[in-house]
Amino acid sequence: MERTLVLVKPDGVQRGLVGAIISRLEQRGLKLVALKMLWLDEALAQRLYAIHRGKPFFERLIKYVTACPLVAAVFEGEGAVALTRQAMGETDPARASPGSIRGDFGIDIGRNLVHGSDSVENAQPEIDLFFTPQEIYSYPRDTDSWIFE
Ligand code: RTP
Ligand code: MG
Repeated sequence: MERTLVLVKPDGVQRGLVGAIISRLEQRGLKLVALKMLWLDEALAQRLYAIHRGKPFFERLIKYVTACPLVAAVFEGEGAVALTRQAMGETDPARASPGSIRGDFGIDIGRNLVHGSDSVENAQPEIDLFFTPQEIYSYPRDTDSWIFE
């Protein structure tokens, strides 16, 4: 079953939006299978965003995501990666659709509240940066037959 990494970034924690952001994905029908709060150190932040090293916003991005604790989650479901990206909205909240997390709660690209894995191939390596296999739960969910025909 497809899994994706979700981070409620430090601005989401500071603004009291952890519940609201996690809730959007739960309400959609994605299954929460792992959850923790942690304070990213510079090394982990740089590994997560290694693809952006050298870009003009890189240093500010690392400072942003290490500024205070964040909340990490794994969501599971068919198409979880794309569904989560759709629920997040475009990278720049000013351009994100109303109804998306970034479109409803954000304005500035440097304060866009949430991270989600951008592809199925990147999701598992990202999950491995944050969670051990023992921290990710497989469990039956009684509502599944009311979410999936
Ligand atoms: P994320 O990786 O956090 O889920 O965001 P994303 O895929 O939508 O966007 P990405 O291109 O991967 O950029 C990573 C994060 O870097 C910050 N950023 N700032 N100032 C800028 O021009 C700029 N561009 C990107 C954002 O926090 C973005 O989420
Ligand atoms: Mg990205």
